[in-house]
Amino acid sequence: MSSGDQVAQGMQRWAGKVALVTGASDGIGRAIAIRLLKCGMKIIGCGRRIEALEKLKADIGGLGDLTIMQCDVSKEEQVLAMFANIKEKFGKIDVCINNAGLGRDASILSGKSEDWQLMLDTNVMGVLRVTREATSLMKAGSIAEGHIININSLSGHRLVPNPSGHVYTATKFALTAITNGIRVELLTQWPDFKCRVSQISPGLVETPFIKHHVGEEKATQLFQQLKALEAEDLAEAVVYQLGSPPHVQIQDVLLRSIEQTA
Ligand SMILES: NC(=O)c1ccc[n+]([C@@H]2O[C@H](COP(=O)([O-])OP(=O)(O)OC[C@H]3O[C@@H](n4cnc5c(N)ncnc54)[C@H](OP(=O)(O)O)[C@@H]3O)[C@@H](O)[C@H]2O)c1
Repeated sequence: MSSGDQVAQGMQRWAGKVALVTGASDGIGRAIAIRLLKCGMKIIGCGRRIEALEKLKADIGGLGDLTIMQCDVSKEEQVLAMFANIKEKFGKIDVCINNAGLGRDASILSGKSEDWQLMLDTNVMGVLRVTREATSLMKAGSIAEGHIININSLSGHRLVPNPSGHVYTATKFALTAITNGIRVELLTQWPDFKCRVSQISPGLVETPFIKHHVGEEKATQLFQQLKALEAEDLAEAVVYQLGSPPHVQIQDVLLRSIEQTA
């Protein structure tokens, strides 16, 4: 059997299972949500902008079972309220994809504190909160198999060449430590609970992220200069991780456009 066939067969065991995708209203999260709906999973997609989530729901039409929930992962009370809703509606989740994240043009020597705070609250605190609640609900739901997938970045592995990205890079290095920390805590504290923990670390992906990070003009220039990854490439990496056999834990997938140097 080819590895592609093995992954496709592996995805069959996730049909009907419940996955939370944070930041499903745009970019990579939206592509992941659509891809997993096509695999027959029940998807809960969250984000801050309810109108963007409603657009996703309208766009997919009858494709699958999508529940949208407005939630800002940087706000403790909103995360707790979302999980209370999920518990009431589904009683469990099987998969949690921590994708919501953002970057701001803010260096260490001259960045604004509010930009640093926003990145830390979203990219670090948001993942911590969602993961704590997700693993607790997975355990309470007595699921057969769980999977946490964190959308990291090449910036979780190396310093970006531009100082304006140093604090964003710090949040993604933190995410690498968090991903490994989740794995160790689950193994040591709940040894009988089967939950794989993975991350995906892309380079430049053509989504609205770069526009929010460096402004529209620079983002347009950047995407004219090189062919970036597409959000759908990341969705395929998620399927590769999920669809691998239950004993195989793909710890990280690093993806870089063939044209990206740094
Ligand atoms: N694009 C890239 O080049 C690239 C490269 C490496 C890694 N990444 C990572 O990939 C992930 C997704 O990025 P993307 O490229 O898809 O960016 P994007 O197109 O800007 O989408 C980000 C998503 O996250 C959501 N979001 C942001 N802050 C949130 C919050 N506080 N609470 C809930 N949802 C929130 C946004 O929805 P709302 O605005 O509706 O909240 C949106 O759905 C991020 O973690 C990013 O760091 C991106």
